[in-house]
Amino acid sequence: MVNNNISTSLTTLTNQSFSLDESTKRVKDYTKWTVAGMIACGIELMWVKSNLKHGDWGDWVKGKLGWSFSTTSRLMNMARLYAKQNNLRIEHKQVLAAQRQRIYSLYSNLALTQNLATSHLDPWGNKPRQLTTSDNWLRVYDVWNFAFRDPNLGEEWPGNIPGQIALNVIHYYTKEGDLVVDPMAGGGSTIDACKKLNRRCVAYDINPLKEKGIKYNDITKGFPNECENCDLIFLDPPYYKINRPLYGEQSVSALEIDEFNLFVIQLAKDCYKTVKNGGFTTFLMQNYQTDFASLNGHIDLTVGAIVFFAGAGFRLANRINCPQSSDVYSGWDIELAKQNGGMLNLVRDLLIFRKLPPRRWEGSQWV
Ligand SMILES: C[S@@+](CC[C@H](N)C(=O)[O-])C[C@H]1O[C@@H](n2cnc3c(N)ncnc32)[C@H](O)[C@@H]1O
Repeated sequence: MVNNNISTSLTTLTNQSFSLDESTKRVKDYTKWTVAGMIACGIELMWVKSNLKHGDWGDWVKGKLGWSFSTTSRLMNMARLYAKQNNLRIEHKQVLAAQRQRIYSLYSNLALTQNLATSHLDPWGNKPRQLTTSDNWLRVYDVWNFAFRDPNLGEEWPGNIPGQIALNVIHYYTKEGDLVVDPMAGGGSTIDACKKLNRRCVAYDINPLKEKGIKYNDITKGFPNECENCDLIFLDPPYYKINRPLYGEQSVSALEIDEFNLFVIQLAKDCYKTVKNGGFTTFLMQNYQTDFASLNGHIDLTVGAIVFFAGAGFRLANRINCPQSSDVYSGWDIELAKQNGGMLNLVRDLLIFRKLPPRRWEGSQWV
């Protein structure tokens, strides 16, 4: 999380002089960066706006940037949302001046990190269409293709999944009255899916939506006692760095790849201790691309999870393809991919692990 020390902000103030040329260059540079860049861009725009007269602002946006006002408004709104979630005060011009400097140094090392899938934050406003019904959810094939978030299943939340994925998991791998645990519950899609199918649910997050009944727990420290012997654990962790700026410093999305892998190794062991014998742990994961899939930046988080959960004693009971919708990518992402000669990733897998006694070789077969 960004340190919000106002007195430090104010002491650096005297060094903040406004230069329209410098700000124009920064705004243009930031557009190469996707999520982090959009936020930084929004802050820079707020800074420019606070320094220009009304008419000059309009001339600059149209003339120098060639953007529409709604584009700049959306970018500035995104920066305000980010600031709110991170307790970052940007409402006063003086503090904004210092924070933009801090944000710049924070994110300059993220430049060119392809932190993709930004349409939920799309400054051009290409919002995915919303599903109107939650009834047509049962899937009989092992491809669960749901393009849109269902407003009846969970709240709007960064990284929320179509709740129909949770419905299918619960339908296939639990029975009425069973206890389902979601330790990284986000907007609570699992909670609503459990209600709909008459399962019990306990849900946690480090950013808990209390009004949804989600409690605080940091899963890197393990499961609360009330989860012991549960029937199913539903895991939808951050997909490594994706959404890093939105979940805060304590989030596992703040980890680098080796630490993230260590987190998954420990998580697999904790799940094995917590779920009942014969019970299931499901793990939803999209692979991460640092340099677009067709170049050299493919990080296969799914294969990693298969190895780590098997190492903890689980058996892989199924692998279901839950492709990401192409709607998660904004025009910005697509343009970047084309410019870089790269491919955008839609592959997302749901791994179903079962806790069963280890197999042994008896006579001529495994039992
Ligand atoms: C992909 S989102 C889950 C979305 C959820 N399945 C939904 O449909 O709304 C991942 C969640 O993990 C949470 N998280 C990250 N690190 C965590 C930690 N150490 N302990 C608990 N929750 C964590 C984030 O706050 C975020 O809400």
